Amino acid sequence: MSASSGIRFDSVTVAYDGNVVLDALDLTVGPGEVMALLGPSGSGKTTALRAVAGFVRPASGRVLLGDRDVTGLPPHRRGIGMVVQSYALFPHMRVEDNVAFGLKARKVSRAEIRERVGEALEMTGMAAYARRHPRELSGGQQQRVAIARALAIRPGVLLLDEPLSALDAQLRSGMLAELARLHRELPDVSMLYVTHDQVEALTLADRIAVMDNARLRACGTPRALYRAPADAFTASFVGGANLLPVTVGVAGVSFGDAEIKVATEGVAPGATATLCVRPHLVGLGDGPNRLTGTVGEVQWRGATHRLLVDVAGHRVMADVRELRTPPVVGEAVRLHFASDDVVLLPAGVGRG
Ligand SMILES: Nc1ncnc2c1ncn2[C@@H]1O[C@H](COP(=O)(O)OP(=O)(O)OP(=O)(O)O)[C@@H](O)[C@H]1O
Ligand SMILES: [Mg+2]
Repeated sequence: MSASSGIRFDSVTVAYDGNVVLDALDLTVGPGEVMALLGPSGSGKTTALRAVAGFVRPASGRVLLGDRDVTGLPPHRRGIGMVVQSYALFPHMRVEDNVAFGLKARKVSRAEIRERVGEALEMTGMAAYARRHPRELSGGQQQRVAIARALAIRPGVLLLDEPLSALDAQLRSGMLAELARLHRELPDVSMLYVTHDQVEALTLADRIAVMDNARLRACGTPRALYRAPADAFTASFVGGANLLPVTVGVAGVSFGDAEIKVATEGVAPGATATLCVRPHLVGLGDGPNRLTGTVGEVQWRGATHRLLVDVAGHRVMADVRELRTPPVVGEAVRLHFASDDVVLLPAGVGRG
């Protein structure tokens, strides 16, 4: 591998025809760190990756790999591997030639190419398929080849743009485990990983960066963003959340008729705010912070039941352990949650 480096966006702005699609992004991915990029469609995730890879030139700001300013360097001189959703293999080339492609372009010797192609195919479990063409492979196998191709150049940085989203759910979870293993085998490689899938982000990432409309909205460990999101947008993007509009009182907040005990420091009494309650932390039946409502929908999900309960004009999601006799639609029920399990956020909607 080339020297472990890490990635630094130093106030990177990208514009197309005067439209700013990445707005002064400051973000650092440490050496060997996996950073997931989450955010709605069009928020600038792919653009951020392309700026690192060198496929798009920032209007201002700098991209650094380690302490090397690469803003002006062409893509092939950056030492970066990139994997995209659509595999992008050359259909007329055998697997081994696809994997060798970047090395040939870099004028690596034939002996060295043979060694590195073998190593990359071994790492991705594709050594037995070296002589095949892409059309003779499944989607998952093609994506492994694409990953092998990215690894063959021994990159210091690996960029992954929704690499698993074209695969079906079962394959995705298998490949997710493979990517985690790859990262353990290549502990110095920094990864920037775009995904729509929260499970991927929570499983793989050391930290998550949440993008919203060309800007970085939040960045932190999965745990911190999940347990203590700074705003409703981040809460809804990192894990499912009930976002309840509440009115702040002295010792807590009110939601409909219910009084909820929660820390309110920093929020003025009388203000409106948003209470973030994770569905799996809502209990059915009596308890602290009780809500009373009517069951609107019951979804059986195997190990759990998801109850959608109408409370004060809002649908509250509660994921409870599978019930022997779940409530029926129209039934009056009580829900509760612990004060420690909820977070009070500034007023505002989640993702829209
Ligand atoms: N080559 C281009 N020319 C003009 N506008 C572009 C170009 N590429 C991207 N954009 C615009 O830049 C914005 C950000 O696009 P980008 O591809 O980075 O979004 P994204 O977060 O990756 O979205 P998705 O989740 O849908 O892949 C979008 O509004 C898009 O239309
Ligand atoms: Mg994209």
